[in-house]
Amino acid sequence: MKAEQLSLWSPRSESANGAAPVVEPAPVEPPPLTPYYDEDGITIYHGDCLEILPRLGAVDHVITDPPYEAEAHTLQRRVSRPGGALMTEPLEFEQMDEVTRCRVAQLIGQRCRRWALVFCQVEGIPKWREAFTAGGMVHKRTCVWVKPDAQPCYGGDRPGIGYENFVAFHVPGRSRWNGGGRLSVFTYTKHDDGTHGTRNEHQTQKPQKLMRELVALFTDEDELIVDPFMGSGSTLVAAKNLGRRAIGIEIEERYCKVAVARLAQRVLPLVHARS
Ligand SMILES: C[S@@+](CC[C@H](N)C(=O)[O-])C[C@H]1O[C@@H](n2cnc3c(N)ncnc32)[C@H](O)[C@@H]1O
Repeated sequence: MKAEQLSLWSPRSESANGAAPVVEPAPVEPPPLTPYYDEDGITIYHGDCLEILPRLGAVDHVITDPPYEAEAHTLQRRVSRPGGALMTEPLEFEQMDEVTRCRVAQLIGQRCRRWALVFCQVEGIPKWREAFTAGGMVHKRTCVWVKPDAQPCYGGDRPGIGYENFVAFHVPGRSRWNGGGRLSVFTYTKHDDGTHGTRNEHQTQKPQKLMRELVALFTDEDELIVDPFMGSGSTLVAAKNLGRRAIGIEIEERYCKVAVARLAQRVLPLVHARS
């Protein structure tokens, strides 16, 4: 076949043996990522982190609070409201599933340059550890957040849960943090004003005092932190106030709105005293 004949060939041409042509579908370009918010080095994407993370480049750190294990999502979750009323209040987002856990750990392992801190309840520690190890990261320490203002066990038939964990993973190789010999126990009230029974804007909002300490201890100025399960933006607010860059991803738009409102607030100096 001559060169000029070759150049005339197109996918719609008849095939050499006369059979129906095979029409190759044109590759579908994903639409460009459009931030929900993008100011002062802080970016929010509204969407599923499993779709957005693959489109991000390298990041320095991940600090995140993913959905929890089944136990935390039960209908028995009871909370007290101002005035003493007891309410049954299941969590408004779905529990973690194994496909999401493995995929998100893999995506983080491919992008993270230093630390990945992952909040979880004690039942989730071995599952996250296995997922992140498979994703190529190394378990460095399991830490404890002690909550002096946690809800008691209203049924009175067992102890209430007064703590939560976060697991610190690192890329293979030597790790470094700004905490020297500090212990892995962090004691902070759930509400930054220490008020028992008031309502945060997100059901599982992390206190700023805690988030600020983690950002200060594990990251350096100007570094880029990603929170793929952003909620109301607690990681981003701490990052902004400490001169770090950050990206948050959240599947529920109402929480993106809350995060934007929190980011617009004036930076309030927080005393780093532990409660
Ligand atoms: C435990 S909450 C995070 C709360 C957050 N630490 C705060 O202080 O507000 C987990 C969040 O992940 C979000 N989420 C769940 N699956 C997601 C997904 N696939 N992609 C992005 N966000 C997701 C939920 O809507 C929920 O707001």
